[in-house]
Amino acid sequence: MSDERIAVCPGSFDPITLGHEDIIRRSLRFADRVIVAVAYSATHVKSGMFDVDERVEMIRETFADTPQVQAMSFQGLLVDFAKAQGADVIVRGLRAVSDFEYEFQMALMNRRLWDGMETVFLAPDLEHSYLSSSLVRQIASLGGDVAPFVPPTVLRRLNERFGRPS
Ligand code: PNS
Repeated sequence: MSDERIAVCPGSFDPITLGHEDIIRRSLRFADRVIVAVAYSATHVKSGMFDVDERVEMIRETFADTPQVQAMSFQGLLVDFAKAQGADVIVRGLRAVSDFEYEFQMALMNRRLWDGMETVFLAPDLEHSYLSSSLVRQIASLGGDVAPFVPPTVLRRLNERFGRPS
């Protein structure tokens, strides 16, 4: 067995924001490798803007300079995906108290599903504590400027989609 500590950072990432990027980069302080895992299942529940492959592509482009970060999509249970990848830590960002109940429930359920799974919550940079993908989607679709909130690759795609000059 390898000594490498692999963390999985799961989510919908529709699209990845600077808040996600911050949390993923912070994870490298304790993980040797971070797998950013884009869930198919969450996509069915929420209305999506980008398809899953495009979300993965944007994450890969965002971390093109950081080989310790990989992006993949997954179907089914997160714990099964994590186990198959050799990851035993889930990383989630906690922005505010309002995130807590949902996150706590998921953390306990994931550990119930696989006892080897721990969830680590990271606080984002204060600058990003109010950011969410859904707000980014809404602002972009209404013609607002989302440049301060998303990586350049996401901005380019949103501008293309909504006919804004880059
Ligand atoms: O960014 P999101 O939408 O808050 O992420 C939610 C996500 C993808 C982490 C969660 O829905 C998930 O883990 N889905 C995979 C299916 C699963 O394992 N469900 C049980 C979780 S307790």
